[in-house]
Amino acid sequence: MSETIQNIVWHDSSISKEERREKNRHHSFILWFTGLSASGKSTVANSLARRLFDQGKQAFVLDGDNVRHGLNNDLGFDEHSRKENIRRIGEVSKLLVESGQIVLTAFISPYRADRQVVRELMEDGEFLEVYVKCSVEECERRDPKGLYKKARNQEISNFTGISAPYEEPLQAEIILDTVVFSIEDCVGQLTNFLMEKKCI
Ligand code: ADX
Repeated sequence: MSETIQNIVWHDSSISKEERREKNRHHSFILWFTGLSASGKSTVANSLARRLFDQGKQAFVLDGDNVRHGLNNDLGFDEHSRKENIRRIGEVSKLLVESGQIVLTAFISPYRADRQVVRELMEDGEFLEVYVKCSVEECERRDPKGLYKKARNQEISNFTGISAPYEEPLQAEIILDTVVFSIEDCVGQLTNFLMEKKCI
């Protein structure tokens, strides 16, 4: 244990997570969207967050591209940086869950082990992995930011799906197939799933 950690003492909050959930009248948890760039993670997450917000629920989206402009602007895309990216997001999400939020995270999060670290950080029922499934071919066809083209031309290195790996979830709580289903359909599937699980 480092000297810094030895000399800091945990301070309990005067308001518990359970009290916040009771006040909000819904559970707080992470919906962890994972999938290739352009698979639809951010679009589905934002669309669902809007719906939850309109229903009076506390929902907040953490998005890879946005978080990398601020908190994680010191990180690149090598394996170590991606691990640190996900570790920080996991810790931030945990704080937001503590504050009563439904947290929707949209990060490629390509490594199973990194996603597992976040799952283990949370209590049972607080981490729901959402696999936004879309083939590389379809993502490359969509290519909304022109990044696949750059990756093919070797203007970007370590690009997920082209020159860096993506490890599919083995036991995602839910799979959304964005090749087959529309954004609206996917939001509907997620809403039904959350209601069945009594999360909302
Ligand atoms: S993660 O792998 O560390 O989880 P994150 O979701 O934060 O990635 O960021 C991915 C976004 O960064 C992509 O949607 C894309 O816009 C951009 N990006 C830039 N370079 C890369 C790269 N080499 N691989 C993947 N995404 C990249």
